[in-house]
Amino acid sequence: MYILTLITAFITFLAIGNSAMAPPQTLLMSAFPPPGVSAFGNFTPNGTSVSVSVKSTAQESSLFDFHFTGAGLNTSAGSTNRVTGDSVFRIGSISKLFTVYAHLLHNGLDRWEQPITNYVPELLDYARKFGNGSRIDNVNWEEVTVGALASQMSGIGANYALGDISGSSLPFSQYGFPKLDPTDIPTCGAEPTQPPCSREVYLQGFVKRHPVFASQYTPVYSNTAFHILGYALEAIAGDTYENILQRDVFRPLDLNNSGTHTPRAGLGVIPPDAMEWDTNIGDETPSGGIYSSANDLVNFGRNILLSTQLPPLVTRRWLKPLAHTSALTFSVGAPWEIYRTMSNITTGRIIDVYTKSGGYGSYACLLILIPDYEISISILTAGPNGIVVNYVSEMIIQTLIPALEKSAKEEAAKILTGLYTSETGGNSSISLTVDDGPGLVVESWTSNSSNLLQTAEEYLQATGGGHINSMRLYPTGLKDSQICQNQAAYRAVFDLSTEPGSTPRVFDQNVNAWENIDEVTYGEISIDDFVFEFDSSGAVMHIEPRILRSTLVKV
Ligand SMILES: *[C@@H]1O[C@H](CO)[C@@H](O)[C@H](O)[C@H]1NC(C)=O
Ligand SMILES: *[C@@H]1O[C@H](CO)[C@@H](O)[C@H](O)[C@H]1NC(C)=O
Ligand SMILES: *[C@@H]1O[C@H](CO)[C@@H](O)[C@H](O)[C@H]1NC(C)=O
Ligand SMILES: *[C@@H]1O[C@H](CO)[C@@H](O)[C@H](O)[C@H]1NC(C)=O
Ligand SMILES: *[C@@H]1O[C@H](CO)[C@@H](O)[C@H](O)[C@H]1NC(C)=O
Ligand SMILES: *[C@@H]1O[C@H](CO)[C@@H](O)[C@H](O)[C@H]1NC(C)=O
Ligand SMILES: *[C@@H]1O[C@H](CO)[C@@H](O)[C@H](O)[C@H]1NC(C)=O
Repeated sequence: MYILTLITAFITFLAIGNSAMAPPQTLLMSAFPPPGVSAFGNFTPNGTSVSVSVKSTAQESSLFDFHFTGAGLNTSAGSTNRVTGDSVFRIGSISKLFTVYAHLLHNGLDRWEQPITNYVPELLDYARKFGNGSRIDNVNWEEVTVGALASQMSGIGANYALGDISGSSLPFSQYGFPKLDPTDIPTCGAEPTQPPCSREVYLQGFVKRHPVFASQYTPVYSNTAFHILGYALEAIAGDTYENILQRDVFRPLDLNNSGTHTPRAGLGVIPPDAMEWDTNIGDETPSGGIYSSANDLVNFGRNILLSTQLPPLVTRRWLKPLAHTSALTFSVGAPWEIYRTMSNITTGRIIDVYTKSGGYGSYACLLILIPDYEISISILTAGPNGIVVNYVSEMIIQTLIPALEKSAKEEAAKILTGLYTSETGGNSSISLTVDDGPGLVVESWTSNSSNLLQTAEEYLQATGGGHINSMRLYPTGLKDSQICQNQAAYRAVFDLSTEPGSTPRVFDQNVNAWENIDEVTYGEISIDDFVFEFDSSGAVMHIEPRILRSTLVKV
């Protein structure tokens, strides 16, 4: 059954108390067979280095580490000869996540809907100077907001200069390409031999490029969006991108092996023929120039999940999709690349996986956050086989998600399930359990000798509401340990069976559970409103089905 995709987080209650989830470390070890072998492909081909770290918000130490030193690391170029969690890689486009994070630290959400031209005004000047106002040929900059750029919804082009092949030595006229006016050939930022573009040349060149889509039409991957967001950040924070990242992100979060410049010799992983290790990409850095390690990157993800620097509200808003794509299982955030899978990969409940990928020459990396389990995963690779990052991420995710689901259930079973009864006498109780489905199952619920589940069933039958398959409790994200005594609120959702039938349905009534929450009240309190109270060790003391205005104590 599909149930509420918006409140599936199962182990959120762990934030109250300090019961750390048992690390599925041995399980992950088993996911890493001898080097070379995996169901997806050779994950340690000769010459490609791999560095992986997995952390949960529940503890500072890692749940899992894996480091593989590829052959032929270029020590004469300053490479380390042994890859560890502190070894530094280029992380390419994962830099974009740092850029948006820095914006959010500077109250970015307040400017989300403002035009970027408020912060990078020359875009408008250049557009007026070089453009002719045609909506086909010119970006409508007044419509391009900070938030649209951060979420790849601006519709602007992918790059200026980068990816332009006209400056290479290929015999273009032989291939039937027209001869170009020399002023159409970029002289910066296109070829490895060229210097990065100056701000003026870049922006003047870019405003002449055609838009791809209308703004807010559909997502399209743009490096330029983050190049421009870098300038906006500098204007807002009044400093250079490098200083802002150092002062506001790397130093406060102790990301000592992360930076915007080539680190000192001995730290980096430099595979053979990786001439791009110390390429300075100038103002393209906010889009793809950052260096980091598996330890730093996993900690960055963990700090995002913990809202160490951002208000929790901002984090909750940031970790959301902002646009669908042509794939049912892939959405785009700011600039999260969001995949949906299932708790048992092909079956079970839906799990949202927030990722940001990055690639730069021989470097291919992935940061993964799974908010439902509060897990952060960094995967860094360097070498000729960029595909390795895909193998390793599948090996980890396909092992980890089912294991986390299982241990979250076991944890929930240990802490929350069982019988709760009235302390003040009378025949009132509630019994909770877990099964293969989501949430906590209400097995029985009695008040003053009346079977409330049966009453609910009779009410639904009488009102044509269907039949109750199960009643399940879900966490709400509402917790309090100051005014209330370590309390966490849950809501009950009735899983109702609807009309059977084998004809495919567009308007699947099984997805409508979210409409029925908080609908039926008794004396102004909803029938689905439940609160757990924990002691200081995290053990549950009682549950309050709030319509009953009384608490039931754990037996
Ligand atoms: C791995 O690569 C190194 C250097 O690139 C080479 O010396 C070695 O023979 C290779 N080993 C295998 C098994 O291919
Ligand atoms: C506008 O400028 C573009 C060049 O960027 C040109 O191709 C196009 O024909 C012009 N459109 C009009 C309506 O002048
Ligand atoms: C990072 O550097 C600071 C200051 O030198 C130091 O206090 C801290 O322990 C370092 N953190 C890590 C994780 O190495
Ligand atoms: C190692 O690095 C040096 C210096 O950057 C370079 O000249 C050499 O070609 C590199 N060797 C390999 C195998 O990439
Ligand atoms: C999925 O769940 C089934 C039954 O609960 C279990 O046998 C199987 O091993 C699980 N699959 C994975 C990939 O963990
Ligand atoms: C329990 O039910 C009985 C009979 O239905 C009623 O007389 C009594 O007042 C109820 N007790 C409470 C505490 O509501
Ligand atoms: C308590 O209520 C339940 C549900 O109505 C009933 O089955 C059970 O017999 C009652 N027990 C006592 C001791 O009255």
